Amino acid sequence: MIRTLLGSFIFLVISSFGTAADTSIDVMPLPQQYQLNGFRLPIDKTFTVHYSQISSPRLNRATARLIAAWQTRSAITFKVTDAPRAKAALVIECDALSSDIPAVTTDESYKLEINSKQAILHANNEVGVMRGLATIQQLLTKDTKGWFMPGLVITDSPRFSWRGLLIDVGRHFMPVEVIHRNLDAMALVKLNVLHFHLTEDQGFRLEIKRHPELTELGSDGKYYTQEQMKELISYAADRGIRVVPEFDLPAHSVSWLVSHPELSSGTEPVLLNRHWPSLDPVFDPTNEAVYTFLNDVFAEVTTLFPDPYFHIGGDENNGVQWSKNASIKAFIRAHGLKDNAGLQTYFNQRVGKLLLAYNKRMIGWDEILNPELPRNDVIETWRGEAGIGKATAGGYDVIRAHGYYIDLLQSAAYHYVVDPSPAAAHAQIGHVLGGEATMWGEFVSDQTIDSRIWPRTAAIAERFWSQQSVVDINDMYRRLEIIDFRLDEAGTIQKKYVKQALMRLLGSDRSESPLEVLENFIDACEPCKGYGKRPGITSITPLNSLADVTRPDGKIQRHFSTKVDYYLNRKMYDEASSYSIMIYLLKWKGSASLVLKLANTAPALVDAAPLAYQLNDVASLGIEAINYIKHKQVAPTIWKAKAVRRLKLDSELHGAVQLAIIPSVEKLVNEVQVEK
Ligand code: ACM
Repeated sequence: MIRTLLGSFIFLVISSFGTAADTSIDVMPLPQQYQLNGFRLPIDKTFTVHYSQISSPRLNRATARLIAAWQTRSAITFKVTDAPRAKAALVIECDALSSDIPAVTTDESYKLEINSKQAILHANNEVGVMRGLATIQQLLTKDTKGWFMPGLVITDSPRFSWRGLLIDVGRHFMPVEVIHRNLDAMALVKLNVLHFHLTEDQGFRLEIKRHPELTELGSDGKYYTQEQMKELISYAADRGIRVVPEFDLPAHSVSWLVSHPELSSGTEPVLLNRHWPSLDPVFDPTNEAVYTFLNDVFAEVTTLFPDPYFHIGGDENNGVQWSKNASIKAFIRAHGLKDNAGLQTYFNQRVGKLLLAYNKRMIGWDEILNPELPRNDVIETWRGEAGIGKATAGGYDVIRAHGYYIDLLQSAAYHYVVDPSPAAAHAQIGHVLGGEATMWGEFVSDQTIDSRIWPRTAAIAERFWSQQSVVDINDMYRRLEIIDFRLDEAGTIQKKYVKQALMRLLGSDRSESPLEVLENFIDACEPCKGYGKRPGITSITPLNSLADVTRPDGKIQRHFSTKVDYYLNRKMYDEASSYSIMIYLLKWKGSASLVLKLANTAPALVDAAPLAYQLNDVASLGIEAINYIKHKQVAPTIWKAKAVRRLKLDSELHGAVQLAIIPSVEKLVNEVQVEK
């Protein structure tokens, strides 16, 4: 008995005063403050809920989503019933209703206490309760004794009030259900702004009743009706998420100008552009009809979107048409505007005034920054860190997107270290509203977009919500693997789509076994980072090649890389440690030769064959290196020289796919001693 008591005492002491890492909880983003208390709240099908203070249909729906996710995870059929406060497993103390539409100032704080009898969630309003429920949703876990939530005390609120995800539906349209499931995922990781990039050269994606020609000629028939948009806004609001629309002006506007070539600055015919990068057509700021027309559009969309913020884009105007147009050049001179940038500021000011009449605060990409702009306008920075300090010093509120371009397919760790308000930028913190991950749409389809957003964006969500001091990359990755399952329960398809996409690549009703081989093969691969490596892809090509089924920052390759680092750092080259790495390489070598065979009969796997040759070579080199290392043998000098050269050749891209494991194998090769 004494030993047991002593044991639990020590357990409590350790869990209360240990470092963040050894008491870490499986929640992303990590709460501002949390402390495990050693209790355990068992969860079973008799789960009960009690609403003290207020209850509401919105809270009922939020609780139902929590239960649905738990049901998926646990296979328990919950019979959720109300219970008196003292008996309820979950007590929700909500002090007040939230406004129907959340605001940037909405209080999102909550407190949660879990003991052996109850979880008590307190918040000032419904949105705070929803943030707390997102935490609770993640906390359900199991051990040999069954399902439970760990006892703890949490005091939580966000570091930044603007935590966004941009979805570009201009380049590739995304049906309503894609937006639904991604809103559910956003809510789970406490993101609160959907930045809806609705117009691009390639597509105008919203019905405009006064100007149906915009979607008739500018959308390939792919757009949201206003009814659908209302429903999406309400779906988002139900989850405490704001929807901020972007209508990109004056460039990136081909899809507007195909039906209104008279408003463009050039004389060439304007044709819908399904390629990228951006083309020359741009609105003519010297034409009064432009403002009349934009006012028509704004009159509708400013009513449709209840949020007071309104994004006008403003990026990447190449100025070609303005510089070629004599009357525009004369206008610039006559109005003392200096140059094209001056003309764009003139345009921004005119557009800003139109929006102000509808009580909207204008946001634009950092190109719009100019001292002449009203201080009420907001700058979203994408071109570098310096823009943050520059804009805040000028007195503007700022949203940081630079560093969070998830379409570039960098690792979660790469984005995780980027701070919305970096010291180096000398930003005035009060002016930094927060940040946004940007899912630009060149290379995503409704099938692949989830895998490009999740799970990496959960790490970015943590950067926006949690304390600045939360920087443990290993613990981030540990929790990222867990949240990946939680997101799957919430409905995203980044895990599910892989098998289906691989089946399609195989192109037949084969048995399961080649699928496993292919899965193992793509675990060694990654889509190439950055832009420009996929010629021929347009907004209407299907995205169903090998590149689309390989994922950035894959789990297996990361585990492999971590193991190699551990092996080399510890320098314990025994049989077991060596084998734990060798096993990955042997498996990849085996898969590579099978994939070569599959590629012969599956035309869609054309890019896989050269990659399989490369993988076979890389795996062989890794195996050879480990054999030298573990037997403490020296290799001929020529072996190492050749190995380094071969690894370089094996790095070649095929169909925008590359082998992700080469840096780790290179480390193994470098560890091999050579003859003097
Ligand atoms: C941008 O990436 N052009 C905002």
